[in-house]
Amino acid sequence: MAVYSLPELPYDYAALEPVITGEIIELHHDKHHAAYVKGANDTLEQLEEARSKEQWAGINGLEKNLAFHLSGHILHSIYWHNMSGDGGGEPLEKDGTGELADAIAESFGSFARFKAQLSKAAATTQGSGWGVLAYEPVSGRLIVEQVYDHQGNVGQGSVPILVFDAWEHAFYLQYRNQKVDFVEAMWRVVNWQDVAARYTAARERAGTLLLAP
Ligand SMILES: [Fe+2]
Repeated sequence: MAVYSLPELPYDYAALEPVITGEIIELHHDKHHAAYVKGANDTLEQLEEARSKEQWAGINGLEKNLAFHLSGHILHSIYWHNMSGDGGGEPLEKDGTGELADAIAESFGSFARFKAQLSKAAATTQGSGWGVLAYEPVSGRLIVEQVYDHQGNVGQGSVPILVFDAWEHAFYLQYRNQKVDFVEAMWRVVNWQDVAARYTAARERAGTLLLAP
């Protein structure tokens, strides 16, 4: 019985056009995300086998694979909902309460400075990675992380609420080598209602988990 499963997309493949083509979304979800789900499930099975046989020679590789595939599954699951064909604009207009907009202004100085930092973090990933807006529960602030692959360069306990996939599979068929253009276009499909809901949920729950076990 598989532990992880591929979630349905919340929209049709072509819903984000012209920012992202339907071809990219179909491949990205049906092939790439699906491979991370399978990889996470396969790795859990391999770990179970290692435990039952008490064969630990491959433990380093298995733990690395678990972090990679599980993180890939989680980030992509957030990514699909972070985007909408009706997205774009700024959180002040779109998040309903203004709480996310206030938190961004408090943590980064202004929306423009936040946008510049996340754009730069995503566009300058070396190799494969992500630009991530995360809630950091110890300080109660928002931070930007430049994630390596799916799992590296992350502050433990931080909760991703807005993720920009900067892997070549996310854009290359449409934007070729123009990663900067892809990142800039991404802002036109950000679903701020979803980001705001994730911010509220993280603020209410994540701090409790970390600081009051
Ligand atoms: Fe991806």
